Amino acid sequence: MTKPRIFVTRRIPQEGLEILKRCCQVEVSDYDGVIPRSLLLEKVKDTDGLLVLLTDMIDKKVIVAAGKKLRVISNYAVGYNNIDVVEATKRGIMVTNTPGVLTETTADLAWALLMCIGRRIVEGDKLVRAGKFRGWEPMLLLGTDIHESTLGLIGFGRIGQAMARRAKGFNLKVIYYDREPVPPIIEKELGASYVSFDELLRKSDFISVHVPLTEETFHLIGQEEFSMMKKESYLINTARGPIIDEKALVKALKGGVIRGAALDVFENEPAIEQELMNLNNVVIVPHIGSASYRTRTKMAIMAAKNLISALRGERPEFLVNPEVLGKN
Ligand code: DGY
Repeated sequence: MTKPRIFVTRRIPQEGLEILKRCCQVEVSDYDGVIPRSLLLEKVKDTDGLLVLLTDMIDKKVIVAAGKKLRVISNYAVGYNNIDVVEATKRGIMVTNTPGVLTETTADLAWALLMCIGRRIVEGDKLVRAGKFRGWEPMLLLGTDIHESTLGLIGFGRIGQAMARRAKGFNLKVIYYDREPVPPIIEKELGASYVSFDELLRKSDFISVHVPLTEETFHLIGQEEFSMMKKESYLINTARGPIIDEKALVKALKGGVIRGAALDVFENEPAIEQELMNLNNVVIVPHIGSASYRTRTKMAIMAAKNLISALRGERPEFLVNPEVLGKN
C-alpha cells in the first residue's frame, strides 16, 4: 500500500519528523525562511496531510491547490488564525493544533517581558554596553516595582492563568477579563478577581494579553483603550499582534499615554512599525513565546501525532473543528 504523502512547510524538531516518517512519505521544505506562496501552492498538490506553521497562510487557495486527497492540516501552534478553518471543515478536512504544551513556556516569556519593561533591563543593558555606566546613581533608570502592582490579564485561559500563578509568587494583585468569569474555586486558588474590560484598563499597572486573534479581538486595544489606561502602565503582548492597533500603540508610547510596552508579536510580522523600534520604552522580541528546546520538541511530537491520528481515521487529540467528524 502506498504511504500517505505529507508536506511539512519548514524544518521542525526531528522527534516529530521521525514519527511522521514511520508511516508516511514526508517532504520537508528546505526553503530557508517562510515558504513563498508560489512554492507552497506547488508543494501542497496531491498531499494527504500538511504540517504547517503559524507563518503559513492556509487559505482557500492553498486548500484547493492541495486537491481532493487532503485530509488533515496540522498546525504547529496553538493559535490557528492562519488557517481557513471554515473552508477546511466544508471540505471534510481536519484541522489540529498544539495547545497545553506551550502554556508555561509562553507564560515564562510574558513574565520575563513584564519584568524587563518594568525594571528597564534592556535599557540598562544598552547603557552599559554603550560605555555610559558611571557607577551607581540615585536617579539612574528608575522603574516600576513588580511586587504589589496590579496585573490585568486580558484572557484567562491556560496562559492567562499561568500568569496569575506567577503573579502570586511576586505578590501582585491580579484582575482579569474574559468573556465569562472562571469558577470561584479557580479564582480563589489563583487569587484573581473578575472585572469588566474598562475596569481592567483603568486599574492595571501591567496589562498582559492572552486572548486568541478572532474578528472580535482584532484591534481590541486601540486609541480609546490606551486613553483609559494609567499613565504609568505597561502593555505586554505574547498573543497575536493584530489584537493591538500598532499605530495607536506608537502614539500612546510617544505621547506618554502609557509608560511602556513589551512585545513578542506584531501586527504585520515580520514587519514592525519603524517608530516602535526607535522608542526606548519598548522591549521587542521576535515571536519566541514557545521557543524553548523542550516545548518546541513537544509541539513537534504533538503536531505529528495529531496528523497521524487523522490519517488513520481516528479523532486527533487536539482537533479544532470536531464538526468535521460527521462529514467523514
Ligand atoms: C502559538 O502556538 O500560537 C504560539 O504563538 C507559537 O509560539
